[in-house]
Amino acid sequence: MPSRNLFQLVYTSIYRAGRVDSELSALRSILSVSRRNNQDAGVTGFLIFDRDSFLQVLEGPRDALDATMARIVRDDRHRDVAVLGTKPIKQRTFHAWTMGGCRRTPQQDPVFAAHGMEDGIDRSRADFEQIVALARDLSVQASAPA
Ligand SMILES: Cc1cc2nc3c(=O)[nH]c(=O)nc-3n(C[C@H](O)[C@H](O)[C@H](O)COP(=O)(O)O)c2cc1C
Repeated sequence: MPSRNLFQLVYTSIYRAGRVDSELSALRSILSVSRRNNQDAGVTGFLIFDRDSFLQVLEGPRDALDATMARIVRDDRHRDVAVLGTKPIKQRTFHAWTMGGCRRTPQQDPVFAAHGMEDGIDRSRADFEQIVALARDLSVQASAPA
């Protein structure tokens, strides 16, 4: 059912290497905690990791997005969190995903190219709709929603 309190938020950030975790184990642990928390909060979305950049689309009720972002910006596994925008939506794009995610692989090059990002994400020019569209296409290719 369409909701009047449904919003989509997009941000970019830069991965900050930890002393212990590898990139892949950081991503796995972020996704596993996100899925648990987002399920409880009614948040869905998709997280892309490309070289040193995170791109994340979050969707859900406004207060749930605010609470989730408040935790995310404090996380020292990344820096320079830049919110590209928050906008009302009629329905979720990532309704099947409490948080889908992927690390870019060469097999995904055509998908990135189709969205003008063959050379990676230019954070200074990243665009809200461009990132939602990229994440949507990657989520279709990703295996099964978790
Ligand atoms: C790139 C990135 C994306 C994240 N996405 C989410 C998310 O969607 N939901 C969430 O609850 N936490 C997310 N986190 C993790 C939070 O920063 C934080 O570690 C976590 O919410 C703490 O949960 P806890 O208090 O249950 O341990 C993300 C962290 C990073 C670095």
